[in-house]
Amino acid sequence: MGIAAQSFLTRSAHAAGSDIIKVGLVGCGGRGNGAAKNAMNADPGCRLTAIGDIFQNRLELGKEVLQRGLTEQYAVDNDHCFSGWDAFDKVLNSGIDVILLCTPPHFRPAQMAAAVKAGKHIFCEKPVAVDATGVRSVMESSKLAQEKGISLVSGLCWRYDHGVLATMNRIHDGAIGRVLVSQANYLTGTLWYRNPEPDWTPMHVQVLNWMYYRWLSGDHIVEQFIHSLDKALWLRHDVPPVRCYGLGGRQVRTSPDYGDVYDHFTVVYEWADGSKTFASTRQMDGCFSETQDYVYGTDGTAKILANEIVSEVPWKYTVDKEKKKSMYDLEHVALFKSIRDGKPLNNGDYMCKSTLMAIMGREACYSGKAITWDEALASAQSLGPTSYEWGPAPEVIVSNPGSYELT
Ligand SMILES: NC(=O)c1ccc[n+]([C@@H]2O[C@H](COP(=O)([O-])OP(=O)(O)OC[C@H]3O[C@@H](n4cnc5c(N)ncnc54)[C@H](O)[C@@H]3O)[C@@H](O)[C@H]2O)c1
Repeated sequence: MGIAAQSFLTRSAHAAGSDIIKVGLVGCGGRGNGAAKNAMNADPGCRLTAIGDIFQNRLELGKEVLQRGLTEQYAVDNDHCFSGWDAFDKVLNSGIDVILLCTPPHFRPAQMAAAVKAGKHIFCEKPVAVDATGVRSVMESSKLAQEKGISLVSGLCWRYDHGVLATMNRIHDGAIGRVLVSQANYLTGTLWYRNPEPDWTPMHVQVLNWMYYRWLSGDHIVEQFIHSLDKALWLRHDVPPVRCYGLGGRQVRTSPDYGDVYDHFTVVYEWADGSKTFASTRQMDGCFSETQDYVYGTDGTAKILANEIVSEVPWKYTVDKEKKKSMYDLEHVALFKSIRDGKPLNNGDYMCKSTLMAIMGREACYSGKAITWDEALASAQSLGPTSYEWGPAPEVIVSNPGSYELT
């Protein structure tokens, strides 16, 4: 363990909430700025002391939003605002205790490895990687974090939602009998598109519109649908599926502005116990929208996001709207409590498994093949460049089922 991490942990185990915890944020976008606010809400002893974003203009925007939203917990002086490809390293080395990793997913495995090496506690947005090489790297980092006593909390926020937790606990306790099948729907409209400056290079354009490039986002099945796939995993006590196959394509978002990602996927995941999850996601406007996880068991059914069970003893989780705690705050409450109590929390196992589950589904749809968990985990795929600079960007090729193969 690094000396800095060791002394902080030892001190914090006895600090009983009195110490200031210095937090650094990398990725000042919608979620990053939100995560910083959640961290500050969670622990009044937190101060945001460093921020970084690859783009100067997004850093400036983040600065404005954060300063306004965090008031006295905003403690970032101008020397601790970083932009450029090395913004992450500068935030990491600025004397912080905790880092919030909120950039596009591609950068997560390398950032996670560096943050664990530096002995920092980590809040890590989902997904944790875009390919199996990245997942294996994060698995290693998570293991190392555990050995070093570093807290690692995942942005798979539904794991911290009180209603979802209560519903899942009931299902695990047998409220609907043995789970036979679940159905995950994440059917939404399209998301943002950001207009690049006229003189920007192809690499600027891809990083700005990272959602639409699989090397940066993993495609929307990985970037967004992971929330539902994680619930299917959780339903099975974090035992991963053995195989999947599926269909997908790019039917509406066909312009080159939308890079190489699909706009719909449907995947069938199969577990060793014979149970299955039918999982569909779509990002198209003007279509039926629904985000829900349905579960069918031998003795009843459940709707996880509706916090509802229909069985011999029907049940629904209810709480006053005013009393309902934000799951985004709750994940940070757990993180900072674990740091102050000196009882490190580690969400590494499920965040890696659900990321791989999503990658496996993507590859099954891209290729049109059935893919096993073992094949997905052993894949040598490593998306994106090996070094980063402004200029040319990775080639954009849309995958065609039947000819594309997972490497
Ligand atoms: N848990 C949730 O419910 C939830 C919700 C939204 C987003 N997310 C996740 O949070 C992450 C960020 O999403 P967002 O919606 O905030 O996107 P965003 O584009 O609004 O923000 C990402 C920021 O990272 C910056 N960035 C890109 N590459 C960088 C690099 N190498 N170093 C430093 N900064 C870099 C971008 O300029 C941008 O400002 C994604 O992984 C996304 O999946 C999670």
